[in-house]
Amino acid sequence: MRLDRAKANARLKKSDSSRALSGHGAIETELRASKKQLRTTSVIRDVAKRKQMEKSLRKSEHVHKAMADSLSRAIAEKDRLLRELRNREQMYREIYNATSETIAVEDTLTGSFVEVNEPMVRMYGYSSKEELMARSIGDLSEAIPPYTQENALRLHALVMAGSPQVFEWMAKKKNGELFNVEVSLSCSPIRGENRILAVVRDITERKRAETALREAHDNLDRKVKERTASLRALATQLVQAEENERQRIANILHEDLQQMLTGTRLMLRDLRERHPKEDAKHLVDRVMSTLEAATQLTRSLCCDLRPPMLYEAGLVAALKWLADDMKKKFGLAVQVRADESCEPESKELRVFIFEAVRALLLNVVKHADVKRAQATLSVTEGNRIHVQVKDRGKGFDALPGTPSGFGLFSLRERTESFGGELNIRSAPGKGTCVTLALPKP
Ligand SMILES: Nc1ncnc2c1ncn2[C@@H]1O[C@H](COP(=O)(O)OP(=O)(O)O)[C@@H](O)[C@H]1O
Ligand SMILES: [Mg+2]
Repeated sequence: MRLDRAKANARLKKSDSSRALSGHGAIETELRASKKQLRTTSVIRDVAKRKQMEKSLRKSEHVHKAMADSLSRAIAEKDRLLRELRNREQMYREIYNATSETIAVEDTLTGSFVEVNEPMVRMYGYSSKEELMARSIGDLSEAIPPYTQENALRLHALVMAGSPQVFEWMAKKKNGELFNVEVSLSCSPIRGENRILAVVRDITERKRAETALREAHDNLDRKVKERTASLRALATQLVQAEENERQRIANILHEDLQQMLTGTRLMLRDLRERHPKEDAKHLVDRVMSTLEAATQLTRSLCCDLRPPMLYEAGLVAALKWLADDMKKKFGLAVQVRADESCEPESKELRVFIFEAVRALLLNVVKHADVKRAQATLSVTEGNRIHVQVKDRGKGFDALPGTPSGFGLFSLRERTESFGGELNIRSAPGKGTCVTLALPKP
């Protein structure tokens, strides 16, 4: 018996339907030999559903393949992004560690280190990050107020309250060596948490330069002060020497020379009476009148040097006498305005003011090219004596720094040595006004 089987796929049409079958049909033909009779058994199975399923399976395979493709593309993209991220992180880490700035990330409350970079480890002389991070801010500071842990935390609080801080700090290395740093503190969210970001800069060199500059400046300042003081002392000595010399010459003129002149005149008068010869009498008269003139001259010289008024009647009277003298000698009309209440008690101050007014009036005579001047003496509310000499003459450039003659210079120095100040107001063509403000003793 031979059994043959064949399978065939066929598209069939249903007999009752006008419409063709949408699915596939299958005919299974079995050839069977039995007793020389060939029989064909056909089993027809409707496989339309299966075909349908196969089709949708093929379709979904297609979809799966597309999905798998896009998934692998997404994975490749993710890998690329990860690689890039890693590269960037590496780059930032390198920058973070290679920068010359030392950076530390600190806990906002405790101040303990969350992260530090390599330069910070090197700057503080530690051998590893871990070793440094185990220390507190106080350990890295001088630990003498104000450079203490407490103050550092106080500054942290200010930063947290919204005001970033930049300040100088005395830092301490692992070996105990102290050095100056400048710290900039700011608040920054790092990995979702608020942190204090500290940038620390070694400013030892800057501090050294600043100290050297300050020392040089102080040195210069001291030298200028010393020079000024010695100049002032010199000017005071000079004026004092002038006054002493005047007094000495006045004494000689008064005590010795005038005595001699008077004695000689008396002797000559005696001679004239004893020898009334006409010729001799004439000669003696001439000698006597010359001697009289000499006596007058010494008297006035004496007055110039040490005006008796100043010592006997006081400053106000002496100034009035000076005004008369200026008119007589130089034709300068001086208007004196002075109140008796301005009279200084100190003899030195009286003499100084008198000499100052005389020097200023002589300047008017010499430089102003006018015939009038004004000298005023008054007491201000702050109980200071104001001495002012004013003219409407030629004037001069009296800007600060413009060199003046010794007269005004020594006047200024003397005024300052009395605790006062001298002020010059003048400009070419605008007249001159010199004021001395002196404390009233
Ligand atoms: N009243 C004045 N009017 C115009 N110029 C003046 C007057 N006082 C001073 N000066 C100017 O200031 C300069 C300095 O005066 P001073 O120090 O007294 O020196 P000196 O009188 O020896 O020249 C004078 O040379 C003159 O040019
Ligand atoms: Mg002068």
